[in-house]
Amino acid sequence: MHFTPIRVAVLGSGFFGNTLAMACKDHDDFDVVAICDLDAASAHELAGRAGARAISDPAELATATDIDLVMIATPNHTHATATMALLQAGKSVFVEKPLAITAEDALAVMAAAALSEGRLLVGHVERTMPGIKRLFLEARSGALGTLLEGYGSRSRLVHVPEGAEDWWKLDRSRSGGELLHEIHELDLLTWVFGEPVEIRTTAGAPRPVGTRVEDSVHKTTLKFASGAVAYHELSTSAHVPDWKFRVSGTEAAVEADLRTAVVRRFVDGVVTEQWGIFDSERANDSLRESSQKKQSYNAAGAVGPYWMQAAVESELLEILAAMRGQDSVLLESPATAVLAGVEAMAQAEAARAVAKIESSPALAGV
Ligand SMILES: NC(=O)c1ccc[n+]([C@@H]2O[C@H](COP(=O)([O-])OP(=O)(O)OC[C@H]3O[C@@H](n4cnc5c(N)ncnc54)[C@H](O)[C@@H]3O)[C@@H](O)[C@H]2O)c1
Repeated sequence: MHFTPIRVAVLGSGFFGNTLAMACKDHDDFDVVAICDLDAASAHELAGRAGARAISDPAELATATDIDLVMIATPNHTHATATMALLQAGKSVFVEKPLAITAEDALAVMAAAALSEGRLLVGHVERTMPGIKRLFLEARSGALGTLLEGYGSRSRLVHVPEGAEDWWKLDRSRSGGELLHEIHELDLLTWVFGEPVEIRTTAGAPRPVGTRVEDSVHKTTLKFASGAVAYHELSTSAHVPDWKFRVSGTEAAVEADLRTAVVRRFVDGVVTEQWGIFDSERANDSLRESSQKKQSYNAAGAVGPYWMQAAVESELLEILAAMRGQDSVLLESPATAVLAGVEAMAQAEAARAVAKIESSPALAGV
């Protein structure tokens, strides 16, 4: 069957908008037609390289007749409003994670998606990495037996650059906080196990981030309707790095270790099979190499490592499937992780407020 290329506009021409636009440019099934950014010079620069026109007013994306899909790669707090406007105009939207940074916004986007002719896809890129997708499909097929337990971790020492005090990635009010900004493993857990019925979060280990002091460790337990339980760990202050995702059932367990780029299946403690996170050894080598390096958030203008490009290529295949009316892992449970993350962040916030009140001088001696 012959398909015409998907006509794409990219909203946000910073670090990840650049990655998405250039990946689409290199893919025969996508045609990059427009780049939009509030920073007109940045939009022009990327549009020039992508062979597209530059737009500085995001409202033009909703009315343009030559755009099928808008890819949103702007700061997290802007995602929900932009996504809703485009869905309401009938466009399909691929929005970078997190879908939203409040529960109200996540639910409002879902309501807009239900009424739209367009499709809603969220950039949960780890789902699309071939080795992780296979793990998920095994879990879903029943090959692991009844699912009992999950584990997800992303712990590393994230360096904060000098002079980045006002950077949106370090500002909870614009990033949504660590649990939402780094939502990938929380998403994998809720994708496999579904909506949690119970969430308990402990956050702490404060460290200076820009002009603020932020909790650098979040530990969250989740319980699901089936009775399965999962544990999620996120740290930006860990000198011993860890980056894993594991699902255990009554018959077998599968664990993806992203630092070694290997996925292993265990039965009774013995490894019975293993495969790569990526099908390409170059991508696996790049993932291993970059997880050994000093970790920091990417700034606009940075070029991501090769494994990230390979991940985006896998993601484009899932986007393409969705746009052609086929199954896609990116269409599933778009908001569940955000709702879980928002609840977890609210618990952390409430605990901070109580600690503040209890240490208040007004209560001294009470
Ligand atoms: N999937 C991944 O692995 C991954 C990796 C990096 C970033 N991201 C996501 O991509 C998104 C963008 O991150 P980034 O690293 O590219 O950030 P960035 O700061 O490098 O780029 C953001 C761009 O958006 C523009 N912008 C800001 N507000 C805008 C608005 N209202 N309308 C139009 N343009 C606006 C800025 O001028 C900037 O060019 C974030 O949501 C982030 O979470 C995802």
